[in-house]
Amino acid sequence: MAEWPTQPKVLGTRVPRVDGPAKVSGQARYSSDIQLPGLLIGMILRSRWPAARILRINLDKARKMPGIKAAVAVQEGPRIVRFYGEELAAVAGVSREACEDALRVIEVEAEPLPFVVREEDAKKPDAPRVWEQAPNMPPPRVQETGNVDAAWAECAAIVEGFYTTSVQLHHPMEPHGGTAHWTEEGLTAWISTQGIASVRDGLAGALRLEQSKVRVITEYMGGGFGSKFGPGVEGILAARLSREAGAPVRLMLSRFEESLAVGNRPSSFQRIKLGAKADGTLHVFDYENYGTAGIGAGQATEGGGGGADLPMPYIYQVPNRRIKQTAVAVNAGSARPFRAPGHPVASFGMESAMDELAVKLGMDPLELRIKNDPFEIRRREYKIGAERFGWKEKYRKPGTSPGPVKVGVGVASATWGGGGSRNTRGEVQINPDGTVEVRLGVQDIGTGTRTVAAVVAAEVLGLKPEQIHVKIGDTLYPLGPGSGGSVTAPSVAPTVFDVCTRALEELQKQTGVSDARGDNWKTACKKLGVNPLTVQGRWREGLSSSGVGGVQFAEVAVDTETGLVTVKKILVVQDCGLVVDPLTAESQVNGGVIMGIGMALYEERVMDWQTGLVLNPNYETYKLPSIADVPEIDIILLNMPERGVIGLGEPVHIPTAAAIANAVANAIGVRVPSLPITPRKVLTALGQVPVRRSSAT
Ligand code: MOS
Repeated sequence: MAEWPTQPKVLGTRVPRVDGPAKVSGQARYSSDIQLPGLLIGMILRSRWPAARILRINLDKARKMPGIKAAVAVQEGPRIVRFYGEELAAVAGVSREACEDALRVIEVEAEPLPFVVREEDAKKPDAPRVWEQAPNMPPPRVQETGNVDAAWAECAAIVEGFYTTSVQLHHPMEPHGGTAHWTEEGLTAWISTQGIASVRDGLAGALRLEQSKVRVITEYMGGGFGSKFGPGVEGILAARLSREAGAPVRLMLSRFEESLAVGNRPSSFQRIKLGAKADGTLHVFDYENYGTAGIGAGQATEGGGGGADLPMPYIYQVPNRRIKQTAVAVNAGSARPFRAPGHPVASFGMESAMDELAVKLGMDPLELRIKNDPFEIRRREYKIGAERFGWKEKYRKPGTSPGPVKVGVGVASATWGGGGSRNTRGEVQINPDGTVEVRLGVQDIGTGTRTVAAVVAAEVLGLKPEQIHVKIGDTLYPLGPGSGGSVTAPSVAPTVFDVCTRALEELQKQTGVSDARGDNWKTACKKLGVNPLTVQGRWREGLSSSGVGGVQFAEVAVDTETGLVTVKKILVVQDCGLVVDPLTAESQVNGGVIMGIGMALYEERVMDWQTGLVLNPNYETYKLPSIADVPEIDIILLNMPERGVIGLGEPVHIPTAAAIANAVANAIGVRVPSLPITPRKVLTALGQVPVRRSSAT
């Protein structure tokens, strides 16, 4: 088993992004920046029926429109569409305007069908069926351990609550799509994706091409958060249009399309009953949940449409438990994995109930957690965090903050895997002039993959990170993992360690220089003569592991006259094994926390039950945190080199919303059990406005 150096020179130092200058200067090429001779624009015709039987699609008129070079239907023959925005056909033309005109003259013959878009409507036995052959809400899957019904009598405190979360949209800054170029030699596709290899295989499968005939390139991409693994219908359509037109086609979705058809986080409706012994030991847990994944199945899991349930009772162990989960189908786009699938939603439900229980027991919520937490690292994190945060001084009984603007604090926690993929391969080329190229078939979803690779290579070769040229985002490079599950850093770091270690040994052997690192580097490389040295390698055991904790403390101010919640501070205590580059790691934490603030306070897809349309399909009406909403984010990373590298992109997002919700309840003395915590919900909880019949939640 390999080991990281015990006295590193570069590892663990604050290395700025090696590709930062390329990004801020506009030199970084994203999929939509690709310019090719004869480039066409592609656009998609989408269903305006939330449900319909499509009988016929006639593209003849569209094909004859000026500037139009190709038109394709998603599917030949009759079919059923199940949500507003489902793809019907696509055109490619010389301009957006030409495409828009052509989309308008496509004739679609369809029979509208009844539909349902809200969870509470879809649950009803007489609701229109989203899928003909199955009820919208199947009976729950039940897991039962111990004796739930008998255990209540043994409890000193029992709490009950109903907690809900909303459907959220991923809304990466860069939309889905790409540029496809189909030639006699094969297909080259520049796709905005989290997985170049899975996109290559997806395109090859859908288009019946050999894998060797498909090349996928993603030099830079602007976020995916779980929604960008496969080629997507849009990627396949771009390729088909390119084939038909005999020209490259750029097809990027609009912000509107992003809100309809490329994934979302399922909602949840969680009924929780939780009981503990007098000393705070959790004893019994009774749970029911359903949420909607649209036309997808269940809570979306890593890498696919769904099926899996929320991980409950989340990080805790409860001897007597009954867990019933199901999902309700609605006529809306399918859910996709969304940053730590299931976990933030589970954390919100469970950690809310834990705080209610602490109040009932008269215990400090932090003490209750430490008492019931089986994970030693996290127990340590609670203590480290409490100290830094000043929990003892800041925590007071719920609702005792004076004045109209009340302050409160809350805490919540997370668990995640984040281990590396042993299939990862890599290659390094050392040139006679001393330059070094590391080539990896991974992609950077915005997390700093090039920088992580450069830091590791620099460490092993005794160079500076800026001397390493990291080439990624091309299926011609040795295979890398899809960037999901927070696996990229723990896949890449051990692989780069391996290839660079082998390359150094080979360089020393070939040139007779006994230590080619550092000062001797150029001399040794020159001795290579004319041939560069190319060495391949693979993920090495022992340099990464998985299984992290993570706790977050939140401090909020709640204006009881307006209902407005302001997050004043988030403290993050997170383990991630060996911290390769604190700067890169901290930027992951910032992103995760800000996304968690969005979940807590702002984000909610709103569906119109009468038209089936997403009512807030853009950045103006779908509220996301802006810079003014970002609080002080204090970060403590536990550096544990002996554990190797572990991913942290997802765990740092998990507990933020729960911690904020707990802080709001602590401030005002009543709980808003429904995310997002809007001013209206706060005022309603305070009894200051009449409860209105609301739509979704
Ligand atoms: Mo993810 S939700 O592992 O990109």
